[in-house]
Amino acid sequence: MQKHTTDLSHEKSEGDSNLSPRRRAWQDEHLDDATRELLAEDARYFLHQSLSTPCLSAMSSCRGIYIEDLAGHRYMDFHGNSVHQVGHAHPKVVEAVKRQLDELAFCPRRFSNEAATGLARKLAEIAPGQLCKTLFAPGGAEAIGIALKLVRHATGRFKTISMWDSFHGASLDTISVGGEALFRRGVGPLLPGVHHVPPYSETGLGQHSAEYIDTVLEKEGDIGAVIAEPMRCTTVVSPPPEYWQRVRESCDRHGALLVFDEIPIALGRTGRMFCFEHYGVEPDIVVIGKGLGGGVVPMAAMIARAELDIAEDRALGHYTHEKSPVGAAAALATIRCIEEEGLLERSLELGRRALARLEEMREHHTSISDVRGLGLQLGVELSREGQKAADEAERVMYLCLERGLSFKVSDGNVLTLSPPLIIEPEQLDRALDILDESLRDVARKVEGSRQQ
Ligand SMILES: Cc1ncc(COP(=O)(O)O)c(C=O)c1O
Repeated sequence: MQKHTTDLSHEKSEGDSNLSPRRRAWQDEHLDDATRELLAEDARYFLHQSLSTPCLSAMSSCRGIYIEDLAGHRYMDFHGNSVHQVGHAHPKVVEAVKRQLDELAFCPRRFSNEAATGLARKLAEIAPGQLCKTLFAPGGAEAIGIALKLVRHATGRFKTISMWDSFHGASLDTISVGGEALFRRGVGPLLPGVHHVPPYSETGLGQHSAEYIDTVLEKEGDIGAVIAEPMRCTTVVSPPPEYWQRVRESCDRHGALLVFDEIPIALGRTGRMFCFEHYGVEPDIVVIGKGLGGGVVPMAAMIARAELDIAEDRALGHYTHEKSPVGAAAALATIRCIEEEGLLERSLELGRRALARLEEMREHHTSISDVRGLGLQLGVELSREGQKAADEAERVMYLCLERGLSFKVSDGNVLTLSPPLIIEPEQLDRALDILDESLRDVARKVEGSRQQ
């Protein structure tokens, strides 16, 4: 068998590397014997793969804004794989799942059930405009796969436009439309007809990207869809003003559909149920997932405009857990929590508070080159002399972990902060204190070693 010798783990990607020397150093210092044993067991039985095995540490519980490791250390979870809008193990979600398990635990494909139809109705109610017909899937990548198939059936076209550096899932079809080298390289033939364009940025290049999309749509003439995140969740990059309106108009002019991937960001994180509501456009299809299952049950959904209900005799998403009553119960309870606990307003309010504090930090820390945020999705970019300060970002992440705050580093140098939306203002302040102190301590070390 071929053992891979080229380390791609440093490639720009979704998360922090599982093979970094800093991770090993952190483990050497922090793990107790029981955790080491469990990680050894994990490494023995799981296939090793980038971004996961070998793992950093092991968890024993998660509740509210906290995760706890086997040795009893608690971390505020600002990572959560984006499943934790309502925090971990929200009592109302857990209760709904338990009740559903007692009533109806599974629903074979030829039947429907109240939980599933209740969720489909609720999604149609909360989704803006014409978005009202849905299919569920067990995960985000599968739901994107359904969207790709629906586009083909609805338009008769198989070509797509998506963005370099984007991520839409880890299956073969989704890594084809995705633009991350870590997932695409060395895996063999991907889907045909997949065009990639430069990602938008908040300034200049973004408009070029909208024009470029228009050019590809025109020149190719048979593109089925443009697929993208309305805001890049990991690096917290928004498009420039009018960007999506321009792309929407281009799609309409050239007969292509607009598909938004809101898997990590929908359902409240940005202060709206759907992120695209900030941009004054409506896609033909939106895909959601992750937090839909309340961080308890895997659950995703593709929601399409009614006129796309055209594939009665085709299989779009033939999944075993297609109308999972348990997943639907978790999702309904999650959406109810978001509504009843005022999490949209909370996300906006706390997001403003956090961003103001981050702006303040930027004044004091020479390593911070930019801070960004929409609701409670926040990004802190670290650079030195115009270069990405990737090593510094990693150091800050491990120091914050040591001090009880977990978050992800994206694209090498962006600290991605995704707090649960239920977080209390004082907890948010405490987390930002940890970040502030860690940035300061790491900068001192970096500057100290430069002077030597
Ligand atoms: C933007 C985006 N799309 C799709 C996915 C894939 O979702 P899943 O892991 O549920 O397949 C992810 C997961 O990280 C994501 O961030």
